[in-house]
Amino acid sequence: MPTVKVALIGVGNCASAFVQGLRFYGKFSKDEECVGLRNPRLGGLTPRDILVVAAFDVDERKVEKDLAEAIFAEPNNAPKVTEVPSTGVIVRKGPLMDGVGKSAQTLVQVSANPDANVAQVLKESSAEVAVNLLPSGAAEASRWYAEQALAAGCAFVNATPNFIASDAAWVKRFEAAGLPLAGDDLVDQAGSTALHKTLLKLLSDSGVKITETYQLDVGGGTESMDTLDRTREAKRIIKTQSVASSLPYKTEVVAGSTDYVDFLRNKRDSYFWVSGTYFCNAPFQIDLKFSTVDAPNAGSVLFDVVRAMKLALDRKLKGAVVPVCAYGFKRPPQMMALETAESAFKTFIADST
Ligand SMILES: NC(=O)c1ccc[n+]([C@@H]2O[C@H](COP(=O)([O-])OP(=O)(O)OC[C@H]3O[C@@H](n4cnc5c(N)ncnc54)[C@H](O)[C@@H]3O)[C@@H](O)[C@H]2O)c1
Repeated sequence: MPTVKVALIGVGNCASAFVQGLRFYGKFSKDEECVGLRNPRLGGLTPRDILVVAAFDVDERKVEKDLAEAIFAEPNNAPKVTEVPSTGVIVRKGPLMDGVGKSAQTLVQVSANPDANVAQVLKESSAEVAVNLLPSGAAEASRWYAEQALAAGCAFVNATPNFIASDAAWVKRFEAAGLPLAGDDLVDQAGSTALHKTLLKLLSDSGVKITETYQLDVGGGTESMDTLDRTREAKRIIKTQSVASSLPYKTEVVAGSTDYVDFLRNKRDSYFWVSGTYFCNAPFQIDLKFSTVDAPNAGSVLFDVVRAMKLALDRKLKGAVVPVCAYGFKRPPQMMALETAESAFKTFIADST
């Protein structure tokens, strides 16, 4: 049976949801039982074909632990939805670099263990797809792990908002190495950016004039604290550009993460405001609140992206895989409308089977 051998860089909340999801959906043999997955089967691959073979972190409560134990270690607060039996994958210590921001130092306890030789671990574990799930502020560390993927001959998926797949210099390096690359900044399954864009497009397609709109988020995961501390501005630019691209005209748009509220734990509340006019300048306003749990929101899209990258490897694609980037990421190298990205991804998958 084909398998997608995955290495997880960062065993935080997203990794917890991903690993729990593999166990949760691994119990089902029929596609129709996989409720909550956008693509139970993709290019002939199911979640049962995804295997985590390596994992890296810096927190002493996770390093040298089996992945099944590490995903539930603090400060992770993604909900536990299933027991995960021992995986045999031991979390290795990666180099810290800029992995933990000033505020997150109150939450993360950095291990004193020596750093593993990451490229060697990737090679020895036969990892095919390395998934970067570091905190959004870990720009230097993200680039360093991309180097390790190049050295080990792995495809690289950048779920963080750091610019790798959308950076022409990195794309060239993956092209030269004959390896596929996807990023940047994973989209959510029940995504606030997608919801915002769809709402604006629906209204503007009907001739409605949007005069101003914003989207503000609050969350209680470690990542929300890191965003507040280090990447608020970068995330705001990515989200604002993405939301603004759904309108055929310029208007006042602000979209971006705002604050950390510890008691929300892994929950996220997104607030939307839309104001505009329609027939004969009649005014309207929308005031919405959208509540989600953060980490599981990455699971279905990550399952799709890692399987798509396996297909890209099989087809010997190199550099940024444009349809995968446009479908699964907020800042792809080539921005597409939601429907265009969806159909480009479907065509890519169909061409691979
Ligand atoms: N729905 C979502 O959760 C979602 C959606 C889109 C993008 N993302 C992105 O995914 C990434 C991961 O999010 P998360 O909520 O899992 O974050 P998290 O803070 O829970 O996890 C990050 C993990 O990386 C570890 N780490 C820090 N520095 C490291 C280093 N140098 N080497 C190895 N490990 C290191 C931390 O100890 C922690 O376990 C973020 O960049 C986030 O922006 C998440």
